[in-house]
Amino acid sequence: MELRCVCMNLSFRGLLSYARRHDIRELDELIRTTGCCSRCATCKPFIRWMLAHDEVPTLDTPLPPEPPTEQPTEPPTEP
Ligand code: FES
Repeated sequence: MELRCVCMNLSFRGLLSYARRHDIRELDELIRTTGCCSRCATCKPFIRWMLAHDEVPTLDTPLPPEPPTEQPTEPPTEP
């Protein structure tokens, strides 16, 4: 079974090929140029791993936990 970004119907193999052709090494750039990860983001840890390892992940690929997302900080309140 070929893994893919289901929401955008983009295969990981195709995304890796695109990243190599365009010398893309950062996830944000791949997201911006292809639209991968831009909906449910379930594919995001796989694609992050793929860019870091330059190979297509499988369902058995041990993935590190996702980095925490930044929470918006509230502005300080006036005393
Ligand atoms: S599977 Fe990639 S955004 Fe949903």
